[in-house]
Amino acid sequence: MQIKATLSERIEQTFAALGLQGDALVQAASRPEFGDYQANGVMAAAKREKKNPREVAEQVVAHLDLEGIASQVEIAGPGFLNITLDPNWLSTAEPSNIRQAAPASTVVVDYSAPNLAKEMHVGHLRSTIIGDSIVRVLEAQGHKVLRQNHVGDWGTQFGMLLEYLNESGESSDELADLESFYRSAKLRFDEDEVFQNRARRAVVDLQSGAEYAALQWQKFIEISMSHCQELYERLGVTLTPEHIAGESRYNDALPGVIQALASKGLLQESDGAQCVFLDEFKTKKGDILPVIVQKSDGGYLYATTDLAAIEYRTRDLMADRILYCTDARQILHFKQIFAVAGLAGFNHNESSLEHLPFGTMLGSDGKPFKTRSGDIIKLADLLSEAEDRALKLVEEKNPDFDPQDARELARIIGVGAVKYGDLSKNRTSDYVFDWDQMISFEGNTSPYLQYAYTRVRSVFSRGEINVASLPLLTVAVDEPERRLAVTLAALNDTLDQVAAEGYPHYLCGYLYELATRFTQFYEACPILKSDGDVKTRRLVLARQTADTLQLGLSLLGIQTPERM
Ligand code: ARG
Repeated sequence: MQIKATLSERIEQTFAALGLQGDALVQAASRPEFGDYQANGVMAAAKREKKNPREVAEQVVAHLDLEGIASQVEIAGPGFLNITLDPNWLSTAEPSNIRQAAPASTVVVDYSAPNLAKEMHVGHLRSTIIGDSIVRVLEAQGHKVLRQNHVGDWGTQFGMLLEYLNESGESSDELADLESFYRSAKLRFDEDEVFQNRARRAVVDLQSGAEYAALQWQKFIEISMSHCQELYERLGVTLTPEHIAGESRYNDALPGVIQALASKGLLQESDGAQCVFLDEFKTKKGDILPVIVQKSDGGYLYATTDLAAIEYRTRDLMADRILYCTDARQILHFKQIFAVAGLAGFNHNESSLEHLPFGTMLGSDGKPFKTRSGDIIKLADLLSEAEDRALKLVEEKNPDFDPQDARELARIIGVGAVKYGDLSKNRTSDYVFDWDQMISFEGNTSPYLQYAYTRVRSVFSRGEINVASLPLLTVAVDEPERRLAVTLAALNDTLDQVAAEGYPHYLCGYLYELATRFTQFYEACPILKSDGDVKTRRLVLARQTADTLQLGLSLLGIQTPERM
């Protein structure tokens, strides 16, 4: 069921019939007294015709045909339309049935993409979980999704690591702790110029295909990738090794990128480097910010690889859309490469190129999230802490749980809390990472929703209800039932919005609202104490709620326990 689209269409048809123009501006009502949905577009449409908005609103209502859709349309204030939906219409929505996209598109989602020279840290958490929930929503809608894990597996830092490996004589098997290995190599690199030059030569050896370098590099990549894979599994993220398409994948295509840019007359030399200068990218002072595509020593850059990747994804993968999940510091980079790709003809499919930037995860001091000693926090440690904190809560709440069950439950709660804590924030804002907030059983949190789910399910077990024998659909009668049905019917509108704009927090807000409306319904409308049709109808609404909560959480990559 498309609620917003249906209401907008009907209202805009009425506008047209009355010689008015404009958007109906339909949105979910901001307060229950305003009905279920409100249309705010009448005032602007009336103003355009220099008419009295209140009178125009009366004409719109008189002509508007919402028969079978709305049971009431009221005018409020200067000309807002407050719409109350008809329970018969709502009853036709099979809530947890996801509407399939027609036509389906091919969507490349570029996410996670850690740098393999180091261990994955919290900075990659956001990309990984935001990307994964968008992927899940798109796939559920029937789109063809191609995950691309554009890992950093190439570049000067590998020269440094290979050279350090040579020098220290350490075998690459001993690289289990990549993080400290990287740190020592970096120290060495920063303090010794001779070492720096040797490291740069190692990069050249690697790039020219020297066998010793290739073997050592391979080893590095394997160790680092297996760390990432372990984390993906712990996080319940759908990425697998087959989704890796790292920077090195594009090596052979890079000379072609330079040639193509040259033949289009887009290249310009600056300090020995090959650059693209586009007027639209300027500093505040008015200097153009060039896109550097080849350094003076012939080396290629991050941007060059991304241009090659656009060709591959639009020509070979035939993407209709490419979504990039990285932090907001890369906004300029993506604006630039999208512009260059357009001019150079690298976007073969007229794909929609969309950067989905996100803000920084902050500590309670308001600075980027670090350990007490100022180190970057490893993702593995963060997840362990989440599980430990959840275990304490589980043990307090249910001292009689079998220890193994308690640990499994703590894992589901802990990992879910970290993911939801992130996904529920507006993607583009920075947010303060706060254990107490995200692991709380109250408010817009994953433990609250997981608990809400188990509470609905417990109705069925307490009442010994055979859920499978309940009818699929029902018509709400009492007002709290109807209001619950309104929210249930809005799932698909919400998913469309997440898919179009790439903001998972819309889905989180929706699920929180659903849980809240269920609570209001549950307090006002006894289920197991009622009889006959009333009981059946309320049980159906409860079942729809449980299914929708479970489905919605699964689209965020969060599991639902059966008891808590
Ligand atoms: N490895 C990069 C980083 O950690 C992210 C790559 C994002 N994807 C891309 N196509 N540039 O910053």
